[in-house]
Amino acid sequence: MHTLLNMKLTSIALVAITAAVAACSTPSSAPMLPVRGSMDTMKAILYREYGPPDVLRLEDTEKPQLEDDRVLLKVRAAAANPLDWHYMRGTPYVARIGMGLRRPKDPRLGSDASGVVVAVGKNVTDFKPGDEVFGIVGGAYAEYARAYPKNIVVKPANVSFEQAAAVPVAAITALQALRNRGRLQPGQKVLINGASGGVGTFAVQIAKSFGAEVTGVCSTRNVDMVRSIGADHVIDYTRQNFTEGTQRYDVILDTVGNHSLSAFRRVMTPKGIYVGIGGGGPNDGGFLGPLWRPIRMVAYSPFVRQQFGTFISSVTKEDLTVLKELLETRKVTPVIDRAYTLPEVPAAIRYLEEGHARGKVIITVEDIDRT
Ligand SMILES: NC(=O)c1ccc[n+]([C@@H]2O[C@H](COP(=O)([O-])OP(=O)(O)OC[C@H]3O[C@@H](n4cnc5c(N)ncnc54)[C@H](OP(=O)(O)O)[C@@H]3O)[C@@H](O)[C@H]2O)c1
Repeated sequence: MHTLLNMKLTSIALVAITAAVAACSTPSSAPMLPVRGSMDTMKAILYREYGPPDVLRLEDTEKPQLEDDRVLLKVRAAAANPLDWHYMRGTPYVARIGMGLRRPKDPRLGSDASGVVVAVGKNVTDFKPGDEVFGIVGGAYAEYARAYPKNIVVKPANVSFEQAAAVPVAAITALQALRNRGRLQPGQKVLINGASGGVGTFAVQIAKSFGAEVTGVCSTRNVDMVRSIGADHVIDYTRQNFTEGTQRYDVILDTVGNHSLSAFRRVMTPKGIYVGIGGGGPNDGGFLGPLWRPIRMVAYSPFVRQQFGTFISSVTKEDLTVLKELLETRKVTPVIDRAYTLPEVPAAIRYLEEGHARGKVIITVEDIDRT
């Protein structure tokens, strides 16, 4: 019953957090208006209605105002996440409670960024202009963005701005899923379903750094890449259904959600832990969308010995620091699929929505010619 209660709470929390996350991202000031070019303006990708990537527009807008407890970054690179198309499409619909019922309250998009600090608020003591940093910002698809100091860390010298921008959401999710939820131990067998994606490519490397035996699941074209980043075993899902195999896993990290919970259970050890973090594509909207799966877990968990859980990752300075160290020691190297420019963000999101990114999709933010 304890498990049941936990699962129920997780499920309720998911709905609440989805709305809360959306609420947190809303601007404290009035919606950003298009402005004519000047020193106080910048280029940014903005969206003023929900819909497909065509709703994203490159506009001239006001540079973010510096606040006492924040830093202002010149963005050098950003990374796309499925979260972006959830915001852009306003799905699942329950999230609109926080994001804006009829149209987005906050027209900015993007959360992962790297860049150079250009100004710090008067209460900020741990960063100074010129610092090269990466982390979570408000509106990463822009020439400038603001960040709270607790959401950024100094970029290691051995990684590029593009590599650093790839890290925050995907790598923190992989880390927290394996360490906090999966409680992965050295020598344990872990299966990563979706090993070639944004979260999966970090999960393979982080699991290896924990000393686990890693099996990655991906399609034929990604088998060599997943092996090259450290997977001990790779299953090509176009040729083999791992849920029908004889191997048993202590931890399963599922980024795809394409098998039933009972199918996953078949390949779990008696005390195995399943961590499902998402799944579903842009056309699987609905009121709850991917949140249906946690609800199924609530119904399923009381009847089985294994643990089935989900969660929404949260960025912490501590975990950004853990990842910074994994980058510095080269235990983790971001896998970058392709890089787009700021005006090409709609194309980047369109590509991500296809569901077959190979590692991370990056946006390189150059100075845009204003003449
Ligand atoms: N709960 C959280 O806090 C949280 C945080 C981040 C992300 N998420 C969710 O986690 C999911 C994954 O995120 P992501 O950033 O990794 O997405 P992504 O980069 O778009 O993932 C794409 C990858 O999925 C793989 N894939 C597609 N179908 C597959 C299948 N049938 N079997 C195995 N792999 C398959 C693709 O590999 P192939 O090309 O080889 O098919 C591709 O490499 C999303 O649903 C996202 O919303 C949740």
